[in-house]
Amino acid sequence: MTLTDMNILHVVGARPNFMKIAPIMAAMAQQPAIRKQILVHTGQHYDENMSRVFFEDLQLPQPDVYLGVGSGSHAQQTARVMMAFEPVLLEHNPDWVVVVGDVNSTLACALVAAKLGIRVAHVEAGLRSFDWTMPEEINRVLTDRLSDMLFTTEPSGTENLRREGIPKEKIHFVGNVMIDTLVRLLPVAKERWPHLQAALGLERYVLVTLHRPANVDDRCQLREILDGLGDIAGHIPVIFPLHPRTRERMHAWQYVSTPSGLLLLEPLGYLDFLALMQRAEMIITDSGGIQEEATYLQVPCLTVRPNTERPITLEMGTNRLVEGERGALVAAARSVLEGHGRGQAQLPVYWEGQAAPRIVSALVGGTDAPPVEAVSR
Ligand code: UD1
Repeated sequence: MTLTDMNILHVVGARPNFMKIAPIMAAMAQQPAIRKQILVHTGQHYDENMSRVFFEDLQLPQPDVYLGVGSGSHAQQTARVMMAFEPVLLEHNPDWVVVVGDVNSTLACALVAAKLGIRVAHVEAGLRSFDWTMPEEINRVLTDRLSDMLFTTEPSGTENLRREGIPKEKIHFVGNVMIDTLVRLLPVAKERWPHLQAALGLERYVLVTLHRPANVDDRCQLREILDGLGDIAGHIPVIFPLHPRTRERMHAWQYVSTPSGLLLLEPLGYLDFLALMQRAEMIITDSGGIQEEATYLQVPCLTVRPNTERPITLEMGTNRLVEGERGALVAAARSVLEGHGRGQAQLPVYWEGQAAPRIVSALVGGTDAPPVEAVSR
């Protein structure tokens, strides 16, 4: 069945959501069956450099609705999103609510929609770290259970959902919308490199991001990691744009004097960060999305976590898990910098820039999205 005159409401809230929604909205704008798109920004992230710069870099339309929920405990933030989102849904009554990723805004909006009987499409469904101490794992499992259509980025996502009893008709393996954005904007980001290089005065460097509570909310853990980064910075400059959560902790614990090779920056916009990623000798991160972007860019990546919900980046990509312990971090970095980590990465299936059109086809009842069984094994 093909639907026409559809109203779609998209939700974004936090930094990693913006690059996922942008290609979906662009693909829907080309689809005549979709009459109206509404963009809701919950305001989970609100700083200029955590939110607004992404709208510019990604050429995202301004949000139609801004909920302005801001920061808080998990319960406060989730509850504030739910309370503010419900009247918006009642007013617009869309055919579908599209949520992406695994942040608190994702779960909060999926829950409100499901209770109002409005269908939920979850993009980046099925990823599992099997680590229930991660807030994102709770968000992922619950959002998937509430969703009517689930779009997976890699075969493990499809397998996890099937194992959890989600009917296969609901699951569509479409690939990775974040890679759609990367493919589109990589040429623009490359143009920024000469300017960045001149500003930083660097040719070779390691790029770092860290913000997971498990790494930065524990005083000793953060100290271990910073000491490891300090050791690495003794050999090669380390560029470290600080997430506000990480900056806050470093200030609170007075971890402010850092070795000279460790360059602490404000969070960067999408294009500047992409420009730095593609030229980095190595990336050290605890982000989910950066593991995937590094895989596409074939840049060696050390992920400071005991697990990953994106196993394809370990199987096919340049990613390696590393313990957040000074010696382990330094040893892994040395091994990569000496050339042992530069395996030839392969690109996962459908990480080629066309995931969003597949999502749109599936949503409007087209046949372009391949059946799950054909591609998941
Ligand atoms: C959130 C997501 C995480 C994602 C990350 C990307 C959840 C549970 N976590 O984590 O999955 O990887 O975003 O960045 O949804 N802050 C600011 N300015 C902002 C936003 C946050 O200063 O614009 C500070 C506040 O002090 C806030 C803290 O950062 O308390 C954490 O923000 P929050 O949205 O709670 O979680 P993140 O750590 O950003």
